[in-house]
Order: sequence, then structure tokens, then C-alpha cells
Amino acid sequence: MGAEVVIEGLSKSFGKQAIWRDVTLTLPPGEVSVMLGPSGTGKSVFLKSMIGLLKPDHGRCMVNGVDIVTCSERKLYDTRKLFGVLFQDGALFGSMNLYDNVAFPLREHTKKSESEIKRIVLEKLEMTGLSGAETKLPGEISGGMRKRAGLARALVLDPEIILCDEPDSGLDPVRTAYLSQLLIDLNSQIDATILIVTHNINVARTVPDNLGMLFRKELVMFGPREVLLTSDEPVVEQFLNGRRIGPIGMSEEKDSAQMAREQAQADAGHHDGSGEDVRGIVPQIEPTPGMPERMGVRRRKDRVMKILHTLPPAAQEGIIESLSPEEQRHYGVRPHHLVGAGHQATQPLPTPGHGHQSGELPAQQVADLPDSGWREPGDGPTRPRPSGNSRMRPPDSGQGGS
Ligand SMILES: Nc1ncnc2c1ncn2[C@@H]1O[C@H](COP(=O)(O)OP(=O)(O)OP(=O)(O)O)[C@@H](O)[C@H]1O
Ligand SMILES: [Mg+2]
Repeated sequence: MGAEVVIEGLSKSFGKQAIWRDVTLTLPPGEVSVMLGPSGTGKSVFLKSMIGLLKPDHGRCMVNGVDIVTCSERKLYDTRKLFGVLFQDGALFGSMNLYDNVAFPLREHTKKSESEIKRIVLEKLEMTGLSGAETKLPGEISGGMRKRAGLARALVLDPEIILCDEPDSGLDPVRTAYLSQLLIDLNSQIDATILIVTHNINVARTVPDNLGMLFRKELVMFGPREVLLTSDEPVVEQFLNGRRIGPIGMSEEKDSAQMAREQAQADAGHHDGSGEDVRGIVPQIEPTPGMPERMGVRRRKDRVMKILHTLPPAAQEGIIESLSPEEQRHYGVRPHHLVGAGHQATQPLPTPGHGHQSGELPAQQVADLPDSGWREPGDGPTRPRPSGNSRMRPPDSGQGGS
């Protein structure tokens, strides 16, 4: 199983320029997560901070009990071997052919024989559709091929954690669909923890288990995919739909005057080219038939059902509807629309020891949940903190443990 990554209160600035502050999230082991965010919000800086290439100002990034932010160089070197990273620009060595580029981490970090290295390199090149291109130099292949070569190189050390910075940029829609399938198949085969940064809405909607978004120097949300996909936060809606109308502007955030001007133009009938509303939950890509079951999906179900009551109603509904009838029985839940009209949706829910939190389960659904199915053993500690943007995050379960 891939490693869990627990990020707490991470902040990064360059000189006086704050990039993001107080980012707290957990990448659950073996699950696939996507981070969205407008250009320049610091997504690449975030990935680089996770592997210690950049030094955050505050906070922790815990991997297997090691804090990447403060650990020694030696520990950092060792812990980095757990990561496979696809950088935004591919970061291939220009003077090495693809074979040598992909073989590089094996020669650098392992004592494998050249014949063993050859087997692994050819396997990864085939996996990423690059068979036959071994002798090409990075400058001689297309941008999409360079991306895939970067991915092949990220995979050779059998990483526990895979970070991909815009793996789809420069790929045509068909190649992007293959890449999405590849990432899911890869996850099913090696159960690695995967974090993908992308601008591709289709990838964001169909690939990950968890979705997050950076905006205005903060983590706007991070949690089960259903939360972001059903969110009515203006910035999320604008981003998912690729609209001009909304808080995100061309260069930076808009002021209210510009927002009002653009809204007036839209109200007057100006069409900005954005299509129909793509909000809502769509089915997630499954492993190709014949591939192993994704263990992350199974673990996620238990994990998400434990925090179901903390999620917004639309997300809860989507999650419950995605369960099979057997699973609904197992977790003791039913889709909202099947609940009898006799229940009072607005009735306040008595949760002993806890105040009301954003996204609390509607009362009639609580009535449908057996005690054992959703209350935390020992109560309290794994419930989300009530402050700020923590409401959308998965619980910090297992923190500091294992
Ligand atoms: N090494 C660095 N030194 C100083 N500033 C930097 C450095 N790296 C990044 N930045 C700044 O940090 C900000 C965030 O950059 P980053 O590349 O992380 O954005 P991004 O969200 O990945 O954008 P995109 O979607 O366009 O790739 C930018 O303003 C950038 O200029
Ligand atoms: Mg970037």
C-alpha cells in the first residue's frame, strides 16, 4: 500500500510574495487525488515542497513518520526514493536518449544489473506507449511524448507516492483519455498514493478519489471528489465550467467592479463561449477489465462513510447513490429521495459533545444511519476541526501513527 502523506499548516513564500499559507490535507494511502487551481496559485511549488525541493516557511509534511520540511539531508534523500515525480516540464536530460533518461533513477539509486534495468525500462516505456522510441533524444520527440517519458521515469523505482504535475498538458484528448486510464490502472496494480495537478476538468471529474483546489493563497477545499463536484462555491463552479464570470480573472483576482461589469455583459446576452454546466458527479474511471481491484477504492468507502455526516448534503447524496444496494445496506444508508416524507429535514441533530458544523448530515439521514456505522469509536478526535476550510478535508485519521 502507498504511503500516507499528512500535510499540516504548510506555508510558502518567496521573499515578500506569499504563495499559499496554512495548507492542511491528508493524501490517504493508495488513493488518487487531484489538485486544481488557477495558473500561478502555486501548485507546482506545492509539489516541489512535498519532496523537499523547496523549503516551506512553516508547517509539516509527514511521510512514513519523517517530516520532509525539517528532516536531515540524509533522511530526505532516503524518503525521496518513495516518490516518483513527473515534473511539469518533464525535466528530462536533454543530452540523454529516452532509454537512459528512464534508466537514470535505477542507475543512481539501485544496484540492479544492466539486464534487470533493461527489463524495467522497456516495461515502463511500453506502459507509457513509447516502445520503439528508446534511442530518441528529448529534443526529437513531441511534447506529449516527453510527458509520457517523464511518467515512465517516475515509475521505475516502484514509488509509493506518485506526484504528477499536469501530466495531460500537451496531450490530445484521446491521449489524455489513455493517460487517465493509465493512472487508474497503475494505481490498481501498485496501490500507490497519487497526487495529480491538472487543469483538465475531465481528468479532475473522472480520475480521482479526492479533489482539492488552491485559490487566493489558500486551500479552498480538499476532500472526497463528490464534495468539490457538487460544490456551489463560486470559484469552484467557475473553474469547473471554465467561465469568465466569477472570482478568477485573467491575471489575478478580480475586484467587485469588474465582476459586476462582466455579469452585466452576460445578463445582456453576451456569450463567453462556456458550455453547459458541468457540475455534478460523473462515474469514476475503473481499472481496465482484468486489472486488480483498486484497494484504495475499498478503503475509501469505509473512510468516507465514517465522515459522511460532516459533508455537505449534495455530496452525501452523491456518495450514497454511488453505493450498490448491498453496500447501502452494509453502511445502513439509503438515498435521500427514498426517505419517507414523515421525517423533518430541518430538525436539528443532537450530536452529543459537538456543536453544529458546516456540512452536517440532515436529520433524516442520521435517522437512517445505525450508531455503529458512522460514529467514531471513542468519539471526537477524528472529526474535522470547525475552523476555516478544514470542513472539506478528509479526517486526519492515523496522523502521527503507523
Ligand atoms: N523558485 C522560485 N522563486 C521565486 N518565485 C517562484 C519560484 N517558483 C515559483 N515561483 C512563483 O510562485 C508562484 C506559483 O508558481 P507555480 O509554478 O507553483 O504556479 P502553478 O500553480 O503551478 O501555475 P501553472 O498552473 O501555470 O503551472 C508564481 O508566482 C511563481 O512566479
Ligand atoms: Mg505549475
